[in-house]
Amino acid sequence: MNKSIAILISGEGTNLQAFIDAQKEQLLQGKIAVVISNQPQAKGLKRAQLANIPSDTINHKDFKNRDEFDYALSKTIDKYQPDLIVLAGFMRILGTPFVTKYQSKLVNIHPSLLPKFTGLNTHQKALDANETEHGCSIHFVTDELDGGPVFAQAKVKVSQQDNKHTLANKVHQLEHQLYVKCVNLLLSNRLTLNNQKVFYNNEPLIGTIGL
Ligand code: GAR
Repeated sequence: MNKSIAILISGEGTNLQAFIDAQKEQLLQGKIAVVISNQPQAKGLKRAQLANIPSDTINHKDFKNRDEFDYALSKTIDKYQPDLIVLAGFMRILGTPFVTKYQSKLVNIHPSLLPKFTGLNTHQKALDANETEHGCSIHFVTDELDGGPVFAQAKVKVSQQDNKHTLANKVHQLEHQLYVKCVNLLLSNRLTLNNQKVFYNNEPLIGTIGL
């Protein structure tokens, strides 16, 4: 087990916590090399410190433009030489040079059943659209916002009683399980990206991986 991951966050870090817990329980097929936040106040940074995982803050406000921020971010990432870069509630758009540099080792989780509801406020958008199902998606990152190849999804039923908070809570529970599962598949090379096509166990992936 000598693979490593860099986890990028901006806030609460409950997905990060799922990876920390999996690592503690020896259920992660690799090691969390570093946690990087663009927000100095991100709660996830505390989670990393408590788990004795190296962490760093690269505050986007300290940079003139996206390219300079992305460059600083990539310099920090490269110090750790991770096999995989895991965006876990990282709320900055990454530019084309960054995304191209890490193509096929950059993944993101998004709180909707993509291609539905890209961007922010996905739970409210699902309620407003009277969806009966909602969920989360995991995808390789391209320079199209929430648009890279999706390889995993998990669904919840939307009930009449749901509001954006109850729905967010339900989706979060799924995210934690699905993201750890998929990162393990990626670290063990059972899930790969080749020419923008996703392969699962060396076969083209049909549909998406679930829980
Ligand atoms: C998660 O729900 C994740 O899907 C979402 O931010 C939340 C972070 O929660 N990401 C996006 O919206 C990215 N477009 P966490 O900080 O508790 O892991």
